[in-house]
Amino acid sequence: MSRRSCDALVVFGITGDLAYRKIIPALQALAQHGDLDMPVIGMAREGWSRERLLERVRDSLRDSGRIDAQAVSRLSARLSYVGGDYRDPATYARLHEALGGRDRPLHYLAIAPGMFETVIEGLSAADCTAQARVVVEKPFGRDLASARALNRTLHRAFAEDAVFRIDHYLGKEAVQNLLYFRFANAFLEPIWSRQYVDSVQITMAESDGVAGRGRFFEEVGSIRDVVQNHLLQVVALLAMDAPAGRAPDAVRREKLRLLRAMRPVDPRRMLRGQYRGYRDEPGVAADSRVETYAALELTIDTWRWAGVPFYIRAGKRLPVTATEVMVRLRPPPLAAFETEAARPPGNHFRFRLSPEVIIAAGARVKQPGEAMRGEAVELVFRHTRSEDALPYERLLRDALRGDAALFTRDDAVEAAWQVVAPALETESDIAPYEPGSWGPAAAADLILGDHGWHEPVAEASAPC
Ligand code: BG6
Repeated sequence: MSRRSCDALVVFGITGDLAYRKIIPALQALAQHGDLDMPVIGMAREGWSRERLLERVRDSLRDSGRIDAQAVSRLSARLSYVGGDYRDPATYARLHEALGGRDRPLHYLAIAPGMFETVIEGLSAADCTAQARVVVEKPFGRDLASARALNRTLHRAFAEDAVFRIDHYLGKEAVQNLLYFRFANAFLEPIWSRQYVDSVQITMAESDGVAGRGRFFEEVGSIRDVVQNHLLQVVALLAMDAPAGRAPDAVRREKLRLLRAMRPVDPRRMLRGQYRGYRDEPGVAADSRVETYAALELTIDTWRWAGVPFYIRAGKRLPVTATEVMVRLRPPPLAAFETEAARPPGNHFRFRLSPEVIIAAGARVKQPGEAMRGEAVELVFRHTRSEDALPYERLLRDALRGDAALFTRDDAVEAAWQVVAPALETESDIAPYEPGSWGPAAAADLILGDHGWHEPVAEASAPC
């Protein structure tokens, strides 16, 4: 397919939670920047009116704290509403009519995965797919088999380069910066391997619980919700080799190689947890065994990373909301100033990926005074711009233009499922944990010998 821009945007699930929290604010941002010069058609099963939808748009923007009257009126002028049963061909006939001859729409499927197939078939039968692109939300399938089946369904109606599997982490400024920092500086490459790196850990902590999304969470759990996608993508960006050449697909190719070199998780090297009170959340089963916390170790079978553990943990109701990477370097080969017993860990790199953009390098310096005694300090780069694009704005703009660099390819999504498959297939215990704690105490055993888990702190009190 050519890289021509789309001429209409169709959002399936416009009345849903994702549209409310993420897509509508992104649409306003596109309108603000003059990038929404096309009809936007909101689709939903509910029998709503356009007026009611406009009301919801305003509510969403008010809640997001970013409402801009001018952009709202630009967005509203372009917005129309088509409601109807997704199983009914008449719904797609109405969409066809609303498109008014525009034949290069971007269809955004912000709907339950169980409806994907029905909608794709409906679109196809109504002649709405030939030149179209499609955005598919995560989680992409429930496991390897369903992801493959979904890929087959999509490919019946769309070429692979017209399919945009969205992972909003890839649209985050800090995640982009991780890739940039690694390959725009020469000093990192010589130490970025098992020779100098001791261990890598990534924590995705959220202080909120499932925040009204209990029913959704019951279907996924932390591993499907954020590990298989966001966190494996971050590992891929951290650990991949430099992209070969400047072809648009160069980064995606290297990420794929890395994902394929990851060993499937060893169920003995993982732990699942559930915060106390989760079972009382609306939409959650009283005897639910769905994890709201997961910690696991990954092994990457490449010359660069052989023997370097990658630890991942993600959890809801933890003490802070922050996603942070900690790359610990090996200590100096000889403890010149400290006794062996008091030997501190080596240097580190810390990447704060959310909500702030921070890159920090940890080193030891001498404390003033007679003794050759040291202390740990950090050299911190902090990005303070507040006008950064929202991840969904950036990704939607890219999809409308046909730029797939920040979207996940079919082969990569399947490789990521392969990595987490044993974690999903093995019946393991669920360890309860207190809300506001760092998760089940047993998670400490997983990382024993590698200086324990690094605990991100809320930014106001972060070291600077
Ligand atoms: C989503 C998950 O993909 O990412 C949520 O479904 C999670 O459970 C969210 O809260 C976190 O994203 P962000 O951008 O708020 O860090």
